[in-house]
Amino acid sequence: MVKAKMTVDKDFTIGVVDKRLYGSFIEHLGRAVYGGIYEPGHSSANEAGFRTDVLEMVKELQVPIVRYPGGNFVSGYNWEDSVGPVAERKRRLELAWRTIETNEFGFNEFVDWSKLANSEVMMAVNLGTRGVDAARNIVEYSNHPEGSYYSDLRIKHGYKEPHAVKTWCLGNEMDGPWQIGHKTAEEYGRVALEAAKVMKWTDPTIELVACGSSSLGMPTFPEWEATVLDHTYDHVEYLSLHQYYGNADQDTPTFLARSLEMDRFIETVMATCDYIKAKKRSKKTMYLSFDEWNVWYHSNESDKKLDPWQIAPPQLEDVYNHEDALLVGCMLISMLKHADRVKMACLAQLVNVIAPIMTDTGGAAWRQTIFYPFMHASVFGRGTALVPLIQSPKYDTKQITDVPYLEGIAVHNEEQGEVTVFAVNRHLEDALQLEVDLRSFGQCSLLEHIVLESDDLKAANTAAQPNRVAPHNRGGAEVSGTLVTASLAKASWNVIRLKIQQ
Ligand code: AHR
Repeated sequence: MVKAKMTVDKDFTIGVVDKRLYGSFIEHLGRAVYGGIYEPGHSSANEAGFRTDVLEMVKELQVPIVRYPGGNFVSGYNWEDSVGPVAERKRRLELAWRTIETNEFGFNEFVDWSKLANSEVMMAVNLGTRGVDAARNIVEYSNHPEGSYYSDLRIKHGYKEPHAVKTWCLGNEMDGPWQIGHKTAEEYGRVALEAAKVMKWTDPTIELVACGSSSLGMPTFPEWEATVLDHTYDHVEYLSLHQYYGNADQDTPTFLARSLEMDRFIETVMATCDYIKAKKRSKKTMYLSFDEWNVWYHSNESDKKLDPWQIAPPQLEDVYNHEDALLVGCMLISMLKHADRVKMACLAQLVNVIAPIMTDTGGAAWRQTIFYPFMHASVFGRGTALVPLIQSPKYDTKQITDVPYLEGIAVHNEEQGEVTVFAVNRHLEDALQLEVDLRSFGQCSLLEHIVLESDDLKAANTAAQPNRVAPHNRGGAEVSGTLVTASLAKASWNVIRLKIQQ
């Protein structure tokens, strides 16, 4: 029998969890927009053409911020194409994903949609084919009240009030050779700095995210971060991280251990930021925006076979299975473990494209397996993340050693008087007997123990079987004084919700 222990103390805090840790991402890619969030003519569409069945599921996730419009797409994006009368909008060859972009849905429509989704907009500017001028103009269009060319143009387009978009990304993955307008760190650092200056001169209240590396595996990592921050440190608030994992070689023990790599990635970026902070004798701390993260590999082969220049073809439509949900749970725990520095994150993406929500165009919408750990963390993981002192047996794989079977963290929600323990049992054969010592919390009682488990690691939800993998709350955790005991099913995601007795 595998036994593990987690000790938490309400005074041993990591940091306040910024609600924007539970952000997501909508790119003009595949069916994320067309057939995803927007489908006029669908039986659930509202007068704006937004699918309300999808909106309801987005609301279940309580997504506080959504990044838009890319991704690789943004590096060829002319924002002016996407505003104004729809009939006059230009159709464009979209070079990042080799499709036709009709621009029927654009920036203003996305702002409208975000309001209905109870979400803020995280807007990215094009630093691939464009630069400083387009960047300042879109901030003026979006945020300036009135009395200038672009703010008056917004008003003419029917939006009297400024959009007040607070968070802006300075381009996307500019270190990647696949990026339209790919740059060296020096080239990007310079243009990001100049764009940052004029964007903030246009609206001093905005916050900016500079591009970090596209993944831990980039040959320029972490020199890229150091060079970019050398240029931009005083002008941006966040540095981005992106990371996707796959299990193409069907090595699930290694796959489930990837979140330990994510820990190291975050810690290396933190160290690089702090090195530049020291070099600049700065008092400012750089925060991290993990604005693309997920599992991504299932759709790679089918995507290679797609014909180019289609409108909204199915692209990156990963069908997620149970083990993917477990890694997504571990990745969420990894970010919570660094809640003092990771202040924003975007599950990439939200609908159809490597997404927790899938739709059939003209048909139903359903929740993929990864929907559940993301929803649980977003709904119950608000408050203060506590240091998880974990004692667990470990395993080794060829690639990653010292992998604890137990992955876990606790979040203390003082407002609600609750503590929530998130835990993954990485053991594929055995249940794990967990003991959580809540020490300083005093008497607690169990609210519920939610479990996501499956008899098949490869089980997935589909239109025909939308609830094949779904959580239940019959987990069986017990509380005695300040001690919680629970048997965590093999290969399971667990949410143990506790009420603190006053
Ligand atoms: O999210 C899909 C793609 O992954 C994004 O467009 C890009 O930024 C990343 O490489």
